[in-house]
Amino acid sequence: MSLFRLDASIMPATSSSRSLADLVEAEWRASHPDSAVTRRDLAADPVPSTAWADAVTSGFVEEGQRTAGQSEALALARGFADELIDADALLFAVPLYNYGVSQHFKTWFDLAYTDPRIDPTGTALRGKPATLVTVLGGNYAAGTPKDGWDHSTGWLRRVLEDVWGLDLRVVQRPFTLVGVNPALDAFTDTARELKEAAEASARAYGRELAARRASQGV
Ligand SMILES: Cc1cc2nc3c(=O)[nH]c(=O)nc-3n(C[C@H](O)[C@H](O)[C@H](O)COP(=O)(O)O)c2cc1C
Repeated sequence: MSLFRLDASIMPATSSSRSLADLVEAEWRASHPDSAVTRRDLAADPVPSTAWADAVTSGFVEEGQRTAGQSEALALARGFADELIDADALLFAVPLYNYGVSQHFKTWFDLAYTDPRIDPTGTALRGKPATLVTVLGGNYAAGTPKDGWDHSTGWLRRVLEDVWGLDLRVVQRPFTLVGVNPALDAFTDTARELKEAAEASARAYGRELAARRASQGV
């Protein structure tokens, strides 16, 4: 058994998404103590912003005519896809930034998605067990003033669950900026409850991730 873990927080020292993903990983490791965990840290090792266009345009030229950038981008995409395909379980930790998806994650996803094994016609990831941990500084729940402003969680679900076909569970922790931004002090109790609920979900999904097996051909 093997786990692939991806982190996208740009502030790893204080990261809430990392802490939650650590809980998921700890449960997975408890069940598979001798198994490998492959990690990719998109903040420490960002994907070059030119790589995606290079990989896409490489498809329009003969192999011998490709630029060095195009060949490097293809190799990078292949490596990303290998990491996903080779793992038995996947764990993604992705914060909300500027009301949208992390640019680090988007750049990584776009490049990995150029690999034909995991494009919409590919089946390599279908049914693979996965957990997404996502954190939001504010709260975008139904009825809140910013309901509808979180343009990250929905997109992450669409691409991981519907496009790649992963057997996905999602842990979401809103209000991580309570205790950091004094303007949110009134929400201290709510934020604590949301944190505890997210931690309980992370542990439960970690145990589940360890127990789940890939379902075939969804
Ligand atoms: C540059 C930047 C932009 C952010 N934009 C938003 C935002 O649009 N909405 C929000 O709710 N939180 C926003 N946040 C807060 C983060 O979502 C929050 O701090 C989260 O906990 C970060 O993930 P991490 O704790 O794993 O590092 C932003 C944080 C940073 C650093």
